[in-house]
Amino acid sequence: MKNTLMKGIFKSIFFILIMIIINSCSSTIATDEKTVSNEELYRPNFHFTPKKGWMNDPNGMFFYKGLYHLYFQHYPNDNIWGPMHWGHATSTNMITWKEQKIALYPDNLGYIFSGSAVVDVNNTSGFGSLKNPPIVAMFTYHDAVKEKAGATDYQSQAIAYSLDEGMTWTKIKGNPVIKNPGIKDFRDPKMMWDAIHNQWIMILAADVETKIYRSSNLIDWELASAFGKNLGVHGAPWECPDFFPIKVEGATDLKWVLLQSINPGGPNGGSATQYFVGDFDGKTFTLDDSFAQDLKNFEGLWVDYGKDNYAGVTWSNIPDADGRKLFIGWMSNWEYANKVPTKNWRSSTTIPRELKLINTDGHYRIVSLPVKELDKYISKTIKKDLLTIDKETVIVDKSAVDISRLDIRFTVNNLKEDKYDFILSNKENNAIHFGINKKDKCFYIDRRNVSQTKFSDEFAKKISTAPITSDFNSIDVRVIIDKTSIEVFYDNGKTVMTEIYFSDKPMDSFSIAKAGSDFELKNVFINQLNIK
Ligand code: FRU
Repeated sequence: MKNTLMKGIFKSIFFILIMIIINSCSSTIATDEKTVSNEELYRPNFHFTPKKGWMNDPNGMFFYKGLYHLYFQHYPNDNIWGPMHWGHATSTNMITWKEQKIALYPDNLGYIFSGSAVVDVNNTSGFGSLKNPPIVAMFTYHDAVKEKAGATDYQSQAIAYSLDEGMTWTKIKGNPVIKNPGIKDFRDPKMMWDAIHNQWIMILAADVETKIYRSSNLIDWELASAFGKNLGVHGAPWECPDFFPIKVEGATDLKWVLLQSINPGGPNGGSATQYFVGDFDGKTFTLDDSFAQDLKNFEGLWVDYGKDNYAGVTWSNIPDADGRKLFIGWMSNWEYANKVPTKNWRSSTTIPRELKLINTDGHYRIVSLPVKELDKYISKTIKKDLLTIDKETVIVDKSAVDISRLDIRFTVNNLKEDKYDFILSNKENNAIHFGINKKDKCFYIDRRNVSQTKFSDEFAKKISTAPITSDFNSIDVRVIIDKTSIEVFYDNGKTVMTEIYFSDKPMDSFSIAKAGSDFELKNVFINQLNIK
């Protein structure tokens, strides 16, 4: 009898404890009805988002055995930045993603900040074998305790390897492999195999410059050089660099490109990624003369001029037969990333893009366009050969296509007017404008009139612009539209603008404001994307 009573009491205590645990978990990730509608409203249709919790930079991207791996800065326990983990997702096409188990957890050496991963095909590290090559990742340990105590040497570089194609990881005993030399911002290592000089190289952000290291085994690293003091845009820490050789389109020469994120300091405020073009002799990166001249004429040259493409880097180990430089960025901005009005999760990635290097009249420029894999998801196309616009004209509305999953392409012909204004809108008077302002010589995105803007003063403070630097009579435009984002590729990707928006009601039409008498759109393709 006594026994049964005790058992009953234990059972009740156990039940109460379980309820307390369940409640305390669900208070960090809300699960009420409001959240469900918030989910429906703002979860993108086809851009990657973590199922729950916080995400920022893409990390450790590599391609192996038919799978694209994407790791990402992740805090699974809340929807704001916190102790960083590496989340993980895989894809066969970079468009549809499967979220995998968390790859790296913080430990007593610190949070797991951004970094990279490579397939060590020749087992130079010795962690695997030729038969089963290890995947080697390098990341930054961020020691938050040391930071709080006022130290400056709280960031160092560490290594982990995977013997099961990136699914599980072992951190090595000898970590950190690169100790902090007394530099406060010392992070985000990006490794690559430099086949030209037969060596591994790694580049990391160190205060106001990037440091380049070399290695033969991915474990012992020698500092080779530093780049960037007094070059490009400064005034805030440099973060998340990338460095790679790339063929110049239509030519035989090869140049090296350095991507360098900075926050704040972007062309429209907050976070953005600038780039540099030059040559690398195996130790030192030297800016191309014409590019150095260009840098004097512009306030930085940027991979993307919109506010929401940050910390983007390229995939490692893309097979030579493919040969593309494939890039993905974090589609947010540190100015407001922690405040955007999503509940269960925060942030998504950009559409993956192919980067190319072109040389127009001696000027090197990075151009980018969505990867060709996206084309496979076009389920329907509305084509209009020629549209002559003399008043505000709806090009397409929700009776014909779902406005929240589109890949729109068109050519603006005969560019004579001052302004070409395109509008994504709904009956509730939410509207995003983007287009070409010839008079002020800029492209723009204006998201000031979409329902949710007040969560941050910076989000819709002003129209974002990108300079128009060449004369053209007609221009190709491509626009990727998801539920909460617009990515505009002007002039075959020579100028790109990416921005997010939060509309309480879905957009229901895509139109053009009246521009003038001679306004012509040619080759209009409204492509419906069907991505599940
Ligand atoms: C860039 C960044 C990196 C850092 C990570 C921390 O967005 O600040 O420099 O490694 O985020 O989450």
